[in-house]
Amino acid sequence: MAQDLKFHEFDAIIVGGGGAGMYAALQASSQVPSQGSSGVQKVAVLSKLYPMRSHTGAAQGGVAASLGNMGEDTAEWHAYDTVKGGDYLVDQNAAQILADDAPKVIYDMEHKGLPFSRTEEGRIAQRKFGGHTHHFGEGPVMRTCYAADRTGHLILHTLYQQCIKENVTFFNEYQVIELLMDGTVATGVAAIRIADSSLHIFTAKAVFFATGGAGRVFKVTSNALANTGDGAAICARAGIPLEDFEFYQFHPTGIKGIGVLITEGTRGEGGILRNRDGERFMERYSPTLKDLAPRDMVARAITKELLAGRGILGNNKIDDFVYLEAMHLGSDTLKTKLPDVREFCMTYVGIDPIKSPIPVHPTAHYTMGGIPTDINGQVGYSGQKYEGLFAAGECACVSVHGANRLGSNSLLELLVFGRRAGIRLKDYVKGAEARKIPQSEIDKARKTYADLLDRKSTGGKVSSNIGQVYDKMQSLMSAKVGVFRNEKGLQECLTGLAEIKEEYKGVKIHNSNTDYNYDVLRVFELGCMLDLAEIVTEGALARKESRGGHAREDYPNRDDENFLKHTMAFLDTTTKQVRLAYDDVDLSKWEPKPRVY
Ligand code: FUM
Repeated sequence: MAQDLKFHEFDAIIVGGGGAGMYAALQASSQVPSQGSSGVQKVAVLSKLYPMRSHTGAAQGGVAASLGNMGEDTAEWHAYDTVKGGDYLVDQNAAQILADDAPKVIYDMEHKGLPFSRTEEGRIAQRKFGGHTHHFGEGPVMRTCYAADRTGHLILHTLYQQCIKENVTFFNEYQVIELLMDGTVATGVAAIRIADSSLHIFTAKAVFFATGGAGRVFKVTSNALANTGDGAAICARAGIPLEDFEFYQFHPTGIKGIGVLITEGTRGEGGILRNRDGERFMERYSPTLKDLAPRDMVARAITKELLAGRGILGNNKIDDFVYLEAMHLGSDTLKTKLPDVREFCMTYVGIDPIKSPIPVHPTAHYTMGGIPTDINGQVGYSGQKYEGLFAAGECACVSVHGANRLGSNSLLELLVFGRRAGIRLKDYVKGAEARKIPQSEIDKARKTYADLLDRKSTGGKVSSNIGQVYDKMQSLMSAKVGVFRNEKGLQECLTGLAEIKEEYKGVKIHNSNTDYNYDVLRVFELGCMLDLAEIVTEGALARKESRGGHAREDYPNRDDENFLKHTMAFLDTTTKQVRLAYDDVDLSKWEPKPRVY
């Protein structure tokens, strides 16, 4: 395999070609004066995929903004719903910015060409989504703007076209493997060019991570194969903590068995969940919002129904399913507003939702924690700032989702904070000196790559099979760190992960080709996920309470006295042990209250 280094220099390197990365690249590259500064010439986006295949494209149901096109709405209600939805672990100043900036980014997308669905009067159409309410919780509000059920796909297309127009440089199919620091200053990244396995060093005044989530840690997931949390793991390995990483979101409606997403927009349009008795069981769990309660509540309700034997098979197992009924919505609504849902059902289940109910159960969906940032995407926490380092989107934690993200706030987050961070990035690099990467960091990158290629030198059991090791990790995480968690299961998970890590050391690479060697990449990704799985589990074990998506059977109540605080999980760079610290939550607007819907 090639080991000669190739060097590149840019003002800013953006790792990740999804919505957050491309919106930031656009802001940082744009020559249109923005907030008093002119554009940066040399911005490069490094993406392990072609950008149009990024996971933003899988987001179906829409993007929240209080436009008020279909009923009264305000940014204040949106911010409040976000804080309450996140079980008060949300930084409230950040939630207010999210809600205030939402209309601005929606209109910007519209003006850039995004073909939103429309009302009869020609306004951007909006639909209901879980946990979004009017008058601070009185009832559901139509807040989620959408383009049928292909909203993320169209955001991605719109941004990509604009990036091409602004001459953003793309390095497609480059896998970043190391963040190169000089103390606490970011100086660049090392990346493998997948086409020929060459190792590249990118020097930059600023490095920006927008690498998405880590849903592949779990067995049943709505996430694409590429969602292996590389950016978060790379930062953790460079000594940067991950914030609130124990909070993982399970979307209530994945297609049974395979986890492919059936958008919450289906319930937003009026779809109803029913158990084997035909009961609309969400009425029992959430009398006001019913099927449109926040996701953590709906996922727990479905799981409880399954375990109580009220799933469709009635076998008391979490791989049983309930029905999502959409037949009553009528063929017009399904064909025009939910065409992908219909196609997924026909392709993967062999049913037409116009005629039959959809079999669903919770699916691992969204990484709520991530690389800690301020409201302008700069990485850091109260104890430490990292110079020249930025992050936005699902890999970051700003934190607007807290313990449970509201549906349609993720596309919004990547637009609002991708944009803000891009604007800040542009100003930052204008005033920053050129960086020099320390030789020790370049040597470290070489070693990381050499170790990846030469699996024999890393010890451990020989000849572990990557597929089996991958599967063991996913099954363990789904079984022990899923919708419900407890001390015993979490301890067992840590023991299991330690064994799996040993097996991982013995995974060999059998493919010696240099062109498109996906064996090498899968091994790298699995290593990232094993580190992240441990961080999730350690954080979950230490958090002895239930809050949002973190439901402890042994600690069923929220404990504000001891746990109304952000977790900061550090991965010790030499021992690889996880160390936990805690940071304050911004509570500047609303007092934490019991969460009733
Ligand atoms: O259900 C959905 O369409 C997912 C949206 C989201 O995760 O925000």
